[in-house]
Amino acid sequence: MDDNFIFVNDVGPRDGLQNQTIDVSPETRVKLIEKLLDAGVPGVEVASFVSPKAVPRMAGAGDIVSELKDSPAALSALVPNLKGYEMARVSGAKIISVVPSATETMNRKNINMGYEDILALSCDLMRRAKDDGIKGQAYVSVAFECPFEGQVSQDRVMEMTETLLEAGAQEIIIADTIGAANPAQVKSLFDRLTASFDKEILATHFHDTRAMGLANAYAAIECGIRKFDASIGGLGGCPFAPGAAGNLATEDLVSMAHQMGFETGIDEKALLETSHFAGEIIGQQIGGRMAGWMTYQMSK
Ligand code: HMG
Ligand code: MG
Repeated sequence: MDDNFIFVNDVGPRDGLQNQTIDVSPETRVKLIEKLLDAGVPGVEVASFVSPKAVPRMAGAGDIVSELKDSPAALSALVPNLKGYEMARVSGAKIISVVPSATETMNRKNINMGYEDILALSCDLMRRAKDDGIKGQAYVSVAFECPFEGQVSQDRVMEMTETLLEAGAQEIIIADTIGAANPAQVKSLFDRLTASFDKEILATHFHDTRAMGLANAYAAIECGIRKFDASIGGLGGCPFAPGAAGNLATEDLVSMAHQMGFETGIDEKALLETSHFAGEIIGQQIGGRMAGWMTYQMSK
């Protein structure tokens, strides 16, 4: 991996839309994804193969994945269980993400399974993906703090990372589900992770609840991490994790990366227009902290 390239994976079409009050059709979600790709975003989490009873906004995942299956971009889909995995595989998904959480209660609230069971299931899905020629990646959710059980130990995150990698996961996404981490904690955890695992298989997923998203991303950059989830306009939130506000906004991450001299391959103007489009489809004024400044720069 080029050390000067920051890979941005936009999770807006999944994390950003799963918790909205407005239903966005699969066709419109495809339009949003295409706009992100046209802006140069190299990775997008496009869909979630979850129960439509649990998360109605994510219905139509199969339509989205099959519509985009010939795209050369790194398009991923979230799968919670074997049923979701099979649906994703049949639709032509090339990258799937499992989502075990670090605590017992968060797993039960999110997937209706306990920690040991979801970890074993996630490992099974990683093995299947490898056999099926699909890239398997795994979130470690609530990697810093759980809304139900409080602080999460680094030992638990290390244990999950090791277990999932042994099962064949090709990437581990360390997720601050409720946006509770601070940069010192991020540095401490990633120092430990990168001492044991290849930094190129580690990614981050920061929520921005306490305005720490960018600072946390910077701390991870300093630890050598180059792959980041972010969400267009700062949309996001897990319906089963109280306090999970929006994700780190893609605009903010990209603007910081460019100002620091990193390359992302992303066109800021097109990204800003995509953020406006995302706001229009949910009927809200959205945008990261950089949106105003970026708009001003582009108007000059
Ligand atoms: P359950 O009720 O225990 O499952 O839910 P079940 O196996 O008893 O099935 C119940 C019904 O769901 C059945 O249908 C199944 O067929 C169906 P019925 O017979 O009642 O008509 N079903 C499915 N349908 C579609 N796709 C599937 C699927 N599986 C079963 N994959 C289940 C268990 C996992 C299904 C449910 O709890 C669920 O869907 N949870 C989804 C949770 C979710 O989407 N959370 C948000 C995403 S995670 C997140 O946001 C965090 C992240 O951003 C990282 C971070 O920030 O930390 C990734
Ligand atoms: Mg999330």
